[in-house]
Amino acid sequence: MKKRGLFITFEGIDGCGKTTQLSLLRDYLVNKGYDVIITREPGGNHQLGKDIRNILLYTKCELDDKAEMFLFLADRAQHINKFILPNLKEGKIVLCDRHTDSTLAYQGYGRGQNLEEIIYLNDIATNNIKPDLTFLYDIDVETSNLRVGNEKDRMENTGSIFLEKVRLGYLNIAQNNPESIKIINAVNPIEIVFKDTKKYVEDALKKI
Ligand SMILES: Nc1ncnc2c1ncn2[C@@H]1O[C@H](COP(=O)(O)OP(=O)(O)O)[C@@H](O)[C@H]1O
Ligand SMILES: [Mg+2]
Repeated sequence: MKKRGLFITFEGIDGCGKTTQLSLLRDYLVNKGYDVIITREPGGNHQLGKDIRNILLYTKCELDDKAEMFLFLADRAQHINKFILPNLKEGKIVLCDRHTDSTLAYQGYGRGQNLEEIIYLNDIATNNIKPDLTFLYDIDVETSNLRVGNEKDRMENTGSIFLEKVRLGYLNIAQNNPESIKIINAVNPIEIVFKDTKKYVEDALKKI
């Protein structure tokens, strides 16, 4: 019987270990024989996404908060409909670095855009396709600053007060969705964080 795909998203403030854990999980799953696709938002695996990502990360323009939000949503609509969904339909496991909860955490809790509106717009952009599992790698802002260092792009260069709001926002979102969003203490060493990640993925794999 053909397996149904699995859609897993990786969330958390910069330096929390999303990319590290995503790549460890990809290797682990590929070794087990699964067909795995890795991607990211903004800018994963489609030219429009790469163009939008360039604007978001490097524009010299003082971007309006709503304009910023709609750029993220435009990227997401293209990404989910033209890339993620077709891969899920082929039974693949899709690992995505950042997704809907990033918009809620950064543009909503961070920049103060209306949360209900973002939830509604996320649902429109994604056609209500939800991740099967989301990891929130939780670290404090000080650890984030230490790990990211000085080479920051526009989105990373936002200051500690903003990041603290985003972190608390993420925790709120996860606490409201305990079934689908797993909070992982990502201050722990990489191997421990991966052990925690793997446990939830194994559970999810049993269900497909
Ligand atoms: N659990 C961890 N403990 C210590 N350092 C880590 C841990 N996870 C990731 N790092 C390091 O922190 C930096 C940022 O990790 P990365 O995976 O790129 O985070 P993100 O993708 O969330 O921004 C990298 O140098 C990485 O090696
Ligand atoms: Mg990363």
